[in-house]
Amino acid sequence: MTETYTLADGLVVPKIGFGTYKLTGATGVNAITSAIDAGYRLLDTAVNYENEGMVGEAIRRTAVPRAQLTITSKLPGRHHHYQEAIATIEESLYRAGLDYYDLYLIHWPNPITGQYVEAWQALIDAQRFGLVRSIGVSNFLPEHLEKLQKETGILPVINQIELHPYFNQAAQRQFDTNHQILTEAWSPLGRGTRNNVLQDPVIQQLAEKYHHTAGQIILRWQTQMNVLPIPKSTHLKRQIENLTIFDFELSDTDRAKIDALTKVDGRYSQQDPAKYEEF
Ligand SMILES: NC(=O)c1ccc[n+]([C@@H]2O[C@H](COP(=O)([O-])OP(=O)(O)OC[C@H]3O[C@@H](n4cnc5c(N)ncnc54)[C@H](OP(=O)(O)O)[C@@H]3O)[C@@H](O)[C@H]2O)c1
Repeated sequence: MTETYTLADGLVVPKIGFGTYKLTGATGVNAITSAIDAGYRLLDTAVNYENEGMVGEAIRRTAVPRAQLTITSKLPGRHHHYQEAIATIEESLYRAGLDYYDLYLIHWPNPITGQYVEAWQALIDAQRFGLVRSIGVSNFLPEHLEKLQKETGILPVINQIELHPYFNQAAQRQFDTNHQILTEAWSPLGRGTRNNVLQDPVIQQLAEKYHHTAGQIILRWQTQMNVLPIPKSTHLKRQIENLTIFDFELSDTDRAKIDALTKVDGRYSQQDPAKYEEF
């Protein structure tokens, strides 16, 4: 059993989950069943990953009961309109063959289109209808969260954002914490070779010092700051490695060394939620 966080609405979630972006078909099913066998209990998918069906198949193939799994999906930007959002969540469930999602998030705020409050109202109602247990957002900035609170009175319990040592999101994390929103980290390892944070000399030195791998150092740093990382790996060895992070603790001094690696322009793909729109 991994350690857990308790969200503001009472949902208990593991401190680390498994990302599924780019996993599809039979290879994806194998990667997910091996991840569940390795001990992952939280899976992260999205309508836009076009792999909810494969995630559902992996869930059916595993011996782990559905109730012990936390399954997340996300609403795409093209369906923020209220009725479309409800229909999308229903279809999302059918594709996965599930009766409910544990977590459903708005994937991006798409502020230029400006329909995310309407989408949020749909998620609030989807929760009321029993389609989803808990509702949250992804890539939301403080201004977007404040608008949700002002217009609906209901805040998300989770905010999934880009977060790795080169972009540690200190201000957003503080905002989330102040509003009882758990911060979840996407691309927690900087997507592997995409930004090469695993090769950073500071991370490499700490890996040597703590006798753990670079990936484990980064994921431990995230969980010690009460963030929930969702690393993705197709390889069982790495899946196990990424999960084995609760047998050591980084000192405050060493955590500060990783904190210092952040850069103002550290997003690896320059997707600024204030401008970026994903449909
Ligand atoms: N909400 C959003 O907008 C958003 C955006 C992006 C991602 N996400 C979610 O976040 C999840 C994770 O992010 P991500 O997939 O972009 O990137 P990531 O988890 O940071 O990195 C995955 C990459 O790193 C490699 N890797 C994994 N563990 C490793 C280790 N211990 N040592 C060395 N390399 C390792 C993987 O290769 P192998 O597979 O070959 O092992 C893969 O290429 C996604 O799968 C998705 O569920 C959400």
